[in-house]
Amino acid sequence: MKKVLVLNGPNLNLLGQREPAQYGSDTLATVEVLCKEVGERLGVEVECRQSNHEGVLIDWIHEAGREIAAGTLLGVVMNPGAFTHTSIALHDAIKGASVTLIELHISNVHARESFRHHSYISPAARGIIVGLGIKGYALAIDALVQVSQAK
Ligand code: DQA
Repeated sequence: MKKVLVLNGPNLNLLGQREPAQYGSDTLATVEVLCKEVGERLGVEVECRQSNHEGVLIDWIHEAGREIAAGTLLGVVMNPGAFTHTSIALHDAIKGASVTLIELHISNVHARESFRHHSYISPAARGIIVGLGIKGYALAIDALVQVSQAK
């Protein structure tokens, strides 16, 4: 069975307690259950990981690139958190490792502070899902499966 990797970046471990007006009251554990349920429905294995550390996320992107090349991974769904707006290194990792990646944000970053309007990830992403709450994870997994089957 092919796999999808769901990566969550900094502070997403605080989902549920963190700014509920922006991110809702569901926890990361709930998000991960939702992702696995979508995977079962679509016939793909879903693995979820979260890190607050940029280098760890970069290592996981490199690993994903090797698994995509080996044909065992379809691609990555990633909520890069605040690294979205700062990390040229994540941009380079996604491009350098040729990773098919859907960028996802729970909140509508374009309706928030101007420093959230720019993403270093978007130019390296296959597609972007923004502002649809945690349902965006399900939509992103579905989209990743569809674009990688169309390849
Ligand atoms: C976020 C939006 C980012 O601007 C913020 O730094 C996050 C979460 C979102 O899911 O809406 O940590 O990626």
